[in-house]
Amino acid sequence: MADTATNVENKTEGGESRRDFLLLATSVVGAAGVAGAIWPFVDSMNPAADVLALSTTEVDISQIEEGQSVTVVWRGKPVFVRHRTQEEIEQAATDDAAALVDVQTDADRVQKAEWLILVGVCTHLGCVPLGQKPGDPRGEFGGWFCPCHGSHYDTSGRIRKGPAPKNLAVPPYAFLDDEHVKIG
Ligand code: FES
Repeated sequence: MADTATNVENKTEGGESRRDFLLLATSVVGAAGVAGAIWPFVDSMNPAADVLALSTTEVDISQIEEGQSVTVVWRGKPVFVRHRTQEEIEQAATDDAAALVDVQTDADRVQKAEWLILVGVCTHLGCVPLGQKPGDPRGEFGGWFCPCHGSHYDTSGRIRKGPAPKNLAVPPYAFLDDEHVKIG
């Protein structure tokens, strides 16, 4: 069972109408029919974790134009969904050969090159990096910038400079079709 809600705000940047938006899509997938059966076996100390493990977020990506990003909430965390431009995709591939802190190829971090999906939590101390909204600083490598202590992420969400030790995490996700992706 899934519910999807979209909140779109219009802004103007560089003379063009662009959308800056917060897409909140929440979907809790539960097995109500078997909940009664399994409940007695659930660790009574941590039932919330069990419920959380069943949570998914379904995102309608059909309206996200190339170059746009949205932030959705999945299991209480921000998740960045960026529809990358060809330039961003090519830069990410080029940067595969750079001196990476947390070595990973761009191809290992995406299922479809144009869609980059990341947990939007800085791997240093957990701030939410900037770079989702038009006009946000994106750091020296064109991806995201965490102003808390100055971590720079590239167009694949890989840490390139600053104190963060790891790349922005890629959550589990699956494309349901060309217009919908399920996170979790
Ligand atoms: S929390 Fe992001 S750089 Fe420290």
